[in-house]
Amino acid sequence: MSTPKPTGESEHQIAPQMAVVARARAPGASDHTGQVEAIRAQDDGLVAGQLGTIYYKPVTVCGIDLKLEPVQPSIGTIVHGIDLAKDLEDPEVVSFLRDLWLERRVIMFRDQGHLTRQEMVNYAQKFGVIGAHHGERDHVPDLPTSVPGFPDMLIIASGEKRAGAASGWHSDATWSTRPPMGSVLMCREAPPVGGDTSFCDAYSMWNGLPEDTRAKIEHLKAVHVGSPHHAMDGKRPSAVHPVPRTHPETGRTTLFMPRSFVKQFDEGHGLDDDEAKSLLTELFDQAGQPEYTCRFRWEAGSLAMWDNRAVQHRATADFWPHRRSMERLTILDYEQDRRAPYYRPE
Ligand SMILES: [Fe+2]
Repeated sequence: MSTPKPTGESEHQIAPQMAVVARARAPGASDHTGQVEAIRAQDDGLVAGQLGTIYYKPVTVCGIDLKLEPVQPSIGTIVHGIDLAKDLEDPEVVSFLRDLWLERRVIMFRDQGHLTRQEMVNYAQKFGVIGAHHGERDHVPDLPTSVPGFPDMLIIASGEKRAGAASGWHSDATWSTRPPMGSVLMCREAPPVGGDTSFCDAYSMWNGLPEDTRAKIEHLKAVHVGSPHHAMDGKRPSAVHPVPRTHPETGRTTLFMPRSFVKQFDEGHGLDDDEAKSLLTELFDQAGQPEYTCRFRWEAGSLAMWDNRAVQHRATADFWPHRRSMERLTILDYEQDRRAPYYRPE
């Protein structure tokens, strides 16, 4: 979270993008209070309701009638009609969801707000091993964890006085040597508008590059560095990973270059400075291309599970001064030798 504030009141910590959106929404407000009042007045009239038509595919799995709603053609499916607290007893249901997850990169669910934290853990454990915030338990984070009884759960909260969101493109904790395979995010409190999370398909990010660019970067590695608040063992964490990454379950190649964490190509890249810089920009700019990207609007009780090996994601920092409260778990691959990113040409 950064420190600038919309109107100069030092007790507030508002992320820069939040402040920009606030100014756009309340251009006449002269101070923090004026902005809050103007924005709340705009959003006060919103009511929850259902409008329009959605297209979905009906599927029955182990007697459960599901409706699969594609979010975008190549990425993201909202699975309707399942209770994640009690419908996953049959391994066939889990295996159906896992296959769908691999195919669609991210799957989402509505109306799961009744899940307790323990039930969230139980759900995530169906797909892998619960990890620490940073994935593997091979380091000790400098900042203590804060959820009693659930040290692996990360609370991501934003409100009027402290507002922020992870709004740069990233995969979770790629500054770890063995970053988490997947992440599960539950929305406990959603703003009435804003705060969406976008997901970008990393297979398309690789395939969409010109052939000569792919040839140039195929054997390169990049240095991923965590932010100061990710410090572990007293220092900022970093890891070196291949630029193209083989998905260990599908065997397909992804582009593994999250802008939030990649600082440079690893030494020995053989590029001059200008070329390295322009290549980095070209690769970073793959994230967020609309054709590769889906955007998920949260409601309280929505839950998303994404594949960190196959997507990048980012939140949208546009919902200040509303509250947004999320709970996140990370999942590690059952198979230890698939946890470290690697590249094997297809
Ligand atoms: Fe994230």
